[in-house]
Amino acid sequence: MHRGVDAPRTPAVGGSAAAEQAPAKPPDTGAHLQQRFDALIADDERIEPRDWMPTGYRKTLIRQIAQHAHSEIIGMQPEGNWITRAPSLRRKAILIAKVQDEAGHGLYLYSAAETLGVDREDLLDLLHEGKQKYSSIFNYPTLSWADMGAIGWLVDGAAIMNQVPLCRCSYGPYGRAMVRVCKEESFHQRQGFDILHTLSHGTPAQQAMAQDAVDRFWWPSLMMFGPPDERSAHTAQSTAWGIKRLGNDELRQRFVDICVPQARALDITLPDPDLRWNENRGHYDFGAVDWAELTRVIKGDGPCNEQRIQRRRSAHEEGAWVREAADAYARKHHNSSAAEALA
Ligand SMILES: [Fe+2]
Ligand SMILES: [Fe+2]
Repeated sequence: MHRGVDAPRTPAVGGSAAAEQAPAKPPDTGAHLQQRFDALIADDERIEPRDWMPTGYRKTLIRQIAQHAHSEIIGMQPEGNWITRAPSLRRKAILIAKVQDEAGHGLYLYSAAETLGVDREDLLDLLHEGKQKYSSIFNYPTLSWADMGAIGWLVDGAAIMNQVPLCRCSYGPYGRAMVRVCKEESFHQRQGFDILHTLSHGTPAQQAMAQDAVDRFWWPSLMMFGPPDERSAHTAQSTAWGIKRLGNDELRQRFVDICVPQARALDITLPDPDLRWNENRGHYDFGAVDWAELTRVIKGDGPCNEQRIQRRRSAHEEGAWVREAADAYARKHHNSSAAEALA
């Protein structure tokens, strides 16, 4: 059973007044702290922000949560591109809501990262300087309206597959953020499926547009699960720490198995001649993913890497006045609350 958030086991960093007044206990040594952390992980309990944690665990979480947060806000760009060109008022309203959801996911995740002692301003600087990454899928262009369908169905679908196990992540704030994110991602996936279903049952030109979008997004979606486990630098340690619950290969296989019947319902062909049911394994076999392409795109050589980061930087600069106004308001509010408390 996971413990609730209000059950700290160790005092706050630096010691609180309550902790100072507590009866004297033997001092925690590094070994004791590590043992307690290991026991919590072994019991499948949650680590909370005030708990002691190994430096590597904290660093891994900061890297992963920041990368996840960056992906949410960079992911707004390829779809934001189509808001003004959505084919109907209804589709436009749905797309605006979805893009806003992604901004909200970024907010939950930056907040979760901040519980680990980092500042979101610093994380954004690292993103803008190219020192932290975001999901490589968002470095592909959105060339037609059908891409909104393919992104919702495949990209949000892959995100759900990755994120549902993260709801059980050993770090409390990340796991809890994921619960809400997953509910919204499932709406995103369904709206994508709905767009593709409408197009693939429309005119021959619409059917071709839907097929073309899936042809372009299928393989990059499979890359969203990361490299094969044997080549993944982080999988083993993250699994031992209860951050990651399932391996990249297993998640990818589950995704393929779910997509094949859905593609059939859409009347769309997945662009893989090797895709076939394997009776012995009870899974679909699929062709080789081009890992060299993933490496290339991660390293910055995808079709839209430069454009995405430039747009992000300018959005950040253009939004400086909003942050300044929010800071001024918060200061004013804080000062008047302090004055009231003293009155
Ligand atoms: Fe999202
Ligand atoms: Fe989404």
